[in-house]
Amino acid sequence: MSQPVPELAERAAACADRLRHADAVLLASHIDADGLTSAAIAATALERAGIPVDVVFERQLDEAAVASIAETDHETVLFTDFGSGQLDIITEYDDAFTPVIADHHQPADAETTYHCNPLLEGINGASELSGAGATYCLARALEDEETDNRDLAALAVVGAVGDMQGGPDGLTGANEGIVAEGVDAGVVREGTDLAMYGRQTRPLPKLLEYASDVRLPGITGDESGAMRFLSDLDIDLREDGEWKRWVDLTAPERQTLASALLKHAVTRGVPSARVDDLVGTTYTLLAETEGTELRDVSEFSTLLNATARYDRADVGLAVCLGDREAALERARTLLRNHRKNLSEGIDLVVEEGVTVEEHLQWFDAGTQIRETIVGIVAGMALGSEGISRDQPIIAFAATEEGEVKVSSRGTHALVREGLDLSAVMREASRSVGGDGGGHDVAAGATIPAGEQAAFVAAADDIVGEQLS
Ligand code: C5P
Ligand code: C5P
Ligand code: ZN
Repeated sequence: MSQPVPELAERAAACADRLRHADAVLLASHIDADGLTSAAIAATALERAGIPVDVVFERQLDEAAVASIAETDHETVLFTDFGSGQLDIITEYDDAFTPVIADHHQPADAETTYHCNPLLEGINGASELSGAGATYCLARALEDEETDNRDLAALAVVGAVGDMQGGPDGLTGANEGIVAEGVDAGVVREGTDLAMYGRQTRPLPKLLEYASDVRLPGITGDESGAMRFLSDLDIDLREDGEWKRWVDLTAPERQTLASALLKHAVTRGVPSARVDDLVGTTYTLLAETEGTELRDVSEFSTLLNATARYDRADVGLAVCLGDREAALERARTLLRNHRKNLSEGIDLVVEEGVTVEEHLQWFDAGTQIRETIVGIVAGMALGSEGISRDQPIIAFAATEEGEVKVSSRGTHALVREGLDLSAVMREASRSVGGDGGGHDVAAGATIPAGEQAAFVAAADDIVGEQLS
């Protein structure tokens, strides 16, 4: 049997063997798009292998979460999209359960037997393989002669894109092996298209107005400008009085619109490197209905974040497992709320500004931005007015438990210069009595209330050392 990521084949096989020997498995996963798709891939593969599974989701796999997992009567626990970073905690419960881990986060300082993580084989966990990708490798190893789990590659691609692993040229590294299997299985199409969020669902004026990755003067954030630009084109952009969406256009119409956009960008002085970013690699899920959020992996992953990050991972999981009725409707309602929160969050950060230290910039959102999305907001704010991409950004938000959630985001250019936010979050949080971890380019932590200033000072020193 071929393996999508040969380097992980042995680890995946060992994990699969251990799972096959379990009477039942408790599956614990993370509350974001990558965690949800990981859970759906694992649950489906286990079910196909005839292994009963129960699923739980956790915000963060801290001491209390691991303790409550240990209290269940499961002897085998599969952790997906987290677990590696908490190995030190998990291994303390050796007598309560056997852990099996499919993750892509920086491992903590401890050893375990069943551990499928790209970082252990020299594959980058921030950009080349997601939690869903590691879980997909495990799913392939769980196959027998009768099963073919390659259809699950569609979810693995959603997980990778949800974790922002795709660049302008799409997914790279180990992720490419997964895309190839999805293409072979007929569930994924890789193409080159306008790289704007909302090609499936947004009416054209909104598609253009809200596209923020490349700022187009006179169009981005300008409703009447976007309308004017569209009206000047020689295409019929309405149907029954309603604006068409990108997916409603014919290939020649798309070509006309895309060329006009590129021309507009060039005439308005957008740098050529940015103009190139208007077109990029896109992934379409062929089993999903055209014009829905699920057809495009980027829209799909946002829909999932809109559920899991609002305590409704059950809704997102049901969508991943195929519910196209009640769960999808519920998810769409959650999505409207999520979008509103993101846009209000970004406005808040841009209006209030960030505090610039020697090596980093930060803001404290208090209770004004939900802690589960403050990292997404920080990432989206990076590069907007007054928020430079030359320094990493750190965001604080209050948790319901009275602690402080920390999120940090950097850029790949800073990582190339030595930035490792995973180490920054771990060391700075531990120095003030908290804990954290993550990836080089995006990481997080939880610290006690009132420790923000001490945390910033410690983090500023560490970033300074890394970039020197
Ligand atoms: O926990 P997990 O690994 O799933 O989350 C990764 C996080 O890192 C996501 O919130 C994603 O948006 C962020 N990220 C980022 N920029 C990257 C890679 C990841 O903001 N280049
Ligand atoms: O929560 P946020 O989106 O900022 O998380 C960024 C990355 O850091 C995610 O991959 C998350 O799993 C990781 N993280 C962690 N430990 C924490 C908080 C976040 O490993 N305490
Ligand atoms: Zn992940």
